[in-house]
Amino acid sequence: MSKSIKLAILGLGTVGTGVVHLINDNLDELKRRSGRDITITEVGTRRQRDDIDPAITQNSDLMAVAASNNVDIVIELIGGTTLAKDVILQAINNGKHVVTANKALLAEHGNEIFAAAEANNVHVAYEAAVAGGIPIIKVMREALAANKIDWLAGIINGTGNFIMTEMRDKGRPFADVLSEAQELGYAEADPTFDIEGIDAAHKLALLASIAFGIPLQFDKVYCEGITDITLQDVSYAEELGYRIKHVGFAVRRDGDGDKAGIELRVHPTLIPQDALLANVNGVKNAVLVNSHPLGQTLYYGDGAGAGATASAVMADVMDLVRVLGSDVAAKHVPHLSFQPEQLSDTPILRAEQMTSGYYLRVHAFDNPGVLADITRILSDAGINIDAILQKPAHKAGQVPVIILTLPVVESQMNLAIEKIENLEAITDKVVRIRLDELA
Ligand code: HSE
Repeated sequence: MSKSIKLAILGLGTVGTGVVHLINDNLDELKRRSGRDITITEVGTRRQRDDIDPAITQNSDLMAVAASNNVDIVIELIGGTTLAKDVILQAINNGKHVVTANKALLAEHGNEIFAAAEANNVHVAYEAAVAGGIPIIKVMREALAANKIDWLAGIINGTGNFIMTEMRDKGRPFADVLSEAQELGYAEADPTFDIEGIDAAHKLALLASIAFGIPLQFDKVYCEGITDITLQDVSYAEELGYRIKHVGFAVRRDGDGDKAGIELRVHPTLIPQDALLANVNGVKNAVLVNSHPLGQTLYYGDGAGAGATASAVMADVMDLVRVLGSDVAAKHVPHLSFQPEQLSDTPILRAEQMTSGYYLRVHAFDNPGVLADITRILSDAGINIDAILQKPAHKAGQVPVIILTLPVVESQMNLAIEKIENLEAITDKVVRIRLDELA
């Protein structure tokens, strides 16, 4: 066996520890597949750990580890966007390849980090940053490389999907399920990233860039989380044949003028109950990709947790190990799938330019003609109603009216909702959730 490959692991939290375990458990497989010996030589950790092999150097100075002569590949698993950025740039500037699971860092600073890697002829691999153990980056950059991608839709936050599933199936309270997701090692250090959709938005920014060949533009992702979803809406949606899931969409819209561009959005969405994506439950993630000429393909698996994420981290390590010693950067696919100088400046559409169907829940006094007023406002705005459900009065004289619409541009829907809310018989803000048939 030729030269041993030396790994440094920065951060020994859930994922870092998972990587150490995976290497210990599967070392024989890793060696047989790569034809190389693989050794962890250094770990960067804030406090000394007594459960680590004494042959591995432990160092709290992460910048020193990233520059160490005793390391070929730096695995960054500390998370965050400050020290993590410094250590990755340090590794790159010292000619080391990097493997990271850090979606926040790449979504926000990936353009700079990838440019630095290209200038230094090294590679930054990030399979673990999106959809946990699902090899979606490899699929999109390699297996779909001949396709033109039209849109993708993904359940890409395991914690959020776990919470939504437990609430729907068992009626468990939100906070209780979130605590369990934290205990299971699914949630981000700051779980608001999970429940407010920010983690999904980070991942969507990465997926969209490799789908369409555009620079990373996290700041342009429209983002809504799951904190406002009520059991009442979950149940009305089910009654109408839909399920509410938190979905990230990247959609290419062809068209004239300001209609042309790319939609980047993550939000709760009603999707048909019988769609495969609607049956992705618990911590599972799934990404549905619609491409030409292939059509729809679906990728499914654990979206969070130590084992799933370690699997993705080590797949990247294996890709690097197999080509180390040759011109690694030349042998790797481009970071964002397209050649860096070929990235396009296709505009990202603003929220009000985006198109989707809607679920509306309107609370109205049970007066004659209210329903007619609401439907007239929608029809005057050119909005096509697909289904309507009026429940009996649930509190003194008020009725919830549920309306599903066909796709409409958001600015039109905003105007219609404003008019509905101005009706005298309307008592509360209109609740709106987007709807997509995934067709
Ligand atoms: N907090 C993330 C999730 C971890 O729940 O999906 C995996 O990226």
